[in-house]
Amino acid sequence: MEFMNLDQFDLAQSAPDEEPQRQYYYMALARTKVAALAAEVGHTLTAHVTTFGCQMNARDSEKLEGILKLVGYELVEEEEDADFVIYNTCTVRENANNKVYGRLGYLHAIKNKKPHMMIALCGCMMQEPEEIQTLQDSYRFVDLVFGTHNLYKFAELLCTALDSDRMVIDIWKDTDMIVENLPVNRKYPFKSGVNIMFGCNNFCSYCIVPYVRGRERSRKPQEILREIESMVADGVKEVMLLGQNVNSYGKNLDPQVSFAELLSAVDEIEGLERIRFMTSHPKDLSDELIAVMAKSKKICHHMHLPLQCGSDRLLKEMNRHYTKAHYLELVEKLRKAIPDIAITTDIIVGYPGETEEDFLDTMDVVNQVHYDSAFTFIYSKRTGTPAARKEDQVPEEVVKDRFDRLLQVVRKDGQAKAESYTGSVQRILIEQVNEQDASLVTGRMDNNSVVHIPGDASMIGTFVDVKLVTCKGFYYIGERLS
Ligand code: 5AD
Ligand code: SF4
Repeated sequence: MEFMNLDQFDLAQSAPDEEPQRQYYYMALARTKVAALAAEVGHTLTAHVTTFGCQMNARDSEKLEGILKLVGYELVEEEEDADFVIYNTCTVRENANNKVYGRLGYLHAIKNKKPHMMIALCGCMMQEPEEIQTLQDSYRFVDLVFGTHNLYKFAELLCTALDSDRMVIDIWKDTDMIVENLPVNRKYPFKSGVNIMFGCNNFCSYCIVPYVRGRERSRKPQEILREIESMVADGVKEVMLLGQNVNSYGKNLDPQVSFAELLSAVDEIEGLERIRFMTSHPKDLSDELIAVMAKSKKICHHMHLPLQCGSDRLLKEMNRHYTKAHYLELVEKLRKAIPDIAITTDIIVGYPGETEEDFLDTMDVVNQVHYDSAFTFIYSKRTGTPAARKEDQVPEEVVKDRFDRLLQVVRKDGQAKAESYTGSVQRILIEQVNEQDASLVTGRMDNNSVVHIPGDASMIGTFVDVKLVTCKGFYYIGERLS
């Protein structure tokens, strides 16, 4: 990527208007402020970004870290050791919000002992006006608050916050902007997330995401390809293409480009070895995409296909635009074209008005598909969504009972699937030295399953062929063949 040299800016001049130049100017300015503060406190300033929620947030955190590093912060592993802590928040379910408030209390205690410490909050939760009000009322020790749409402005906001002794708040309601070529600090040298689109236009009735992430915007294919090519040149072997609904990629581009076309182009990038993507919406999953997956040697044989619910009546209420039959047909097509495909899903239990019959429809799909794994969620009421206005909430004990019944089947299927691979030979990408046992390294199969094999740190980032010797439920112990 073309990152700019910070030394080229004359800070006596005012900031340029165009992006990303403007942000690089502010990075240069922040660098002088951070250096001054470091001199004042007598040591290099440290920073830590804590990510809540999904892979999109994880990628956003890498962008924040990229800027932090460039302006002179040293990134540290532990929040406790940091002079600057950023919480990149999630709000998809209520408990995500509760976690943030719980941990903020703890951070406050640390800040009391370290007055120069700064705390910033960003991400999806900050797009909710009630949360901003709560912060203003009860969490005045927070220094900087920004949202999802202006994350690219972090350097500029940091400059303001460093000069201010009051809480700096900047939240935008929406945006149509995509700012390219900002710095990123990749967590892994050998694999990376790549945003292909932002926002969501689906407005599933229970979901807060379209309100906090804004309207769907796709990055231009040239920008995506250029970013991946430069990642590959820098040692990346696996990419995960990220979007709330990747199957509707490119609909707002001129000329239109389909997700299948984008995938084919990514598939051609030399040196790239593995391609993943998430998340697919069943309503937009095309035959063309299945064909591209079946033909490719790089696209992982894994499809995360959120079901949410198996009842046609509730699917309609949820605004999902597919039926149980259509969903099952997609699964059949996928398995026919790619026999060893791993299929995973998301399911919500206890949507308002869910009857036992509706729930049995969900169980029926689960029993027919036999998912490799499933994320199961108890419905969480999100203020502002259409479902939150519904009055027929399912009693807690009924939800709990259904959730347990679902979990039992999902676990049993997952274990049986995992067991069925025992004895097979798989290619894995080694990701790290095992945290519990340093004589082992841990890698991932094409379907994302974890395998531990004897090895050392020199193997990180390489592919090895392994035989899966023992299945331990959801992971394997393997032996190296190549
Ligand atoms: N309650 C429970 N689960 C939810 N999800 C989204 N909104 C809610 C909600 N209000 C789940 C969906 C989605 C996943 C990311 O989170 O299953 O696919
Ligand atoms: Fe939420 Fe539905 Fe968009 Fe997924 S597709 S982010 S569940 S609104």
